[in-house]
Amino acid sequence: MKKISLSSPDITDVERKAVMDVLKTQTLSLGPKLQEFEGRFAKFAKRKYAVAVNSGTSALHLIVRALGIREGDEVITTPFSFIASSNCILYERAKPVFVDIDEETLNIDVKKIESKITKKTKAILAVDVFGNPANWDAILRIAKKHKLKVIEDSAEALGSSYKGKPCGSFGDAAVFAFYPNKQMTTGEGGVILTDDPKVEEACRSMANQGRKVKNGKWLEHIRLGYNYRLSEIECVLGIAQLKRVNELLRKRSRVAKMYDAKLKGVKGLELLKAAKGTKKSFFVYVVKLSKQYSRTQRGNIISRLAEQGIQCSTYFQTIHLQPFYREAFGFKRGDFPIAESVSDRTIALPFYNNLKGKDLDTVVKALKSLL
Ligand SMILES: Cc1ncc(COP(=O)(O)O)c(C=O)c1O
Repeated sequence: MKKISLSSPDITDVERKAVMDVLKTQTLSLGPKLQEFEGRFAKFAKRKYAVAVNSGTSALHLIVRALGIREGDEVITTPFSFIASSNCILYERAKPVFVDIDEETLNIDVKKIESKITKKTKAILAVDVFGNPANWDAILRIAKKHKLKVIEDSAEALGSSYKGKPCGSFGDAAVFAFYPNKQMTTGEGGVILTDDPKVEEACRSMANQGRKVKNGKWLEHIRLGYNYRLSEIECVLGIAQLKRVNELLRKRSRVAKMYDAKLKGVKGLELLKAAKGTKKSFFVYVVKLSKQYSRTQRGNIISRLAEQGIQCSTYFQTIHLQPFYREAFGFKRGDFPIAESVSDRTIALPFYNNLKGKDLDTVVKALKSLL
């Protein structure tokens, strides 16, 4: 049986050659390719500084630390995301304060943020979920009014824009992530973007074991640090992908449009829409089952598709209902009803740049017949 996978990276001979070439050099970490990747990325993202690290999670963790978020502080965030956007707050023993989502955009509901602000609130960490930009105007306005920092988790939104400005350019600091299912990949990797030289210096130093950024000695450590470095091998992959980024995004958008056209009007399905004034770059292609379907039925549909070789997934299971969060914080069903209702009905379909039309047709046909 032919398998149609959920995601697949778009790697060509250009990337393969770049990796082979760097392997012929003596510098496999902290070399010129890191600088080149960061320089190119900052330019692409329209930010002053880019600090490349070994994952999106590491990038978020360093931002939380660099912004001085500490034990007992509260950070307002969304429960409808990948777990890392909340775990990064826990790493510093701060508290994620969840706010339910907007049913249309699936992003944090900005109308519900202010009621959750307390004296302990230090930041808002918003996510551009599935590449759909959050309501940045409102988030920045609330943050300014209450003197809060803004962390932009754009891990899924490379190439998206909000009112003409690219995602990743709004917060005090932002991240993109480069796991192989993302719009571009370095295998594993992430990047911090900021215009603040202090945040840049702190993140760069912490990513490299707390060494001084300039004129430091290898065995001198001026602050608590980590090994969150991105190797030269990953950086050349990133450079090659970044040079092709318009092509990568175009191909992704083409596949999304094909799904849109074939699934439009299908009974039992709701297609996700980009919010007004935004341009969405697709991370995953997610459809929502209509409210008549239960979580169990959604699970059955995914299992039956899997039996036919079609790999789908439940993007996202809400963070507050993850076993660890339930146990540690006592969250329960009903705490964030909109996020839960959406999360119970979403299905991510196979989605990648080189998904063939006939495979996409197979997915659509199988899904329709199960509905
Ligand atoms: C919204 C969001 N934040 C953070 C991350 C973490 O990135 P990484 O897997 O590179 O650690 C991801 C990755 O899937 C993500 O989707």
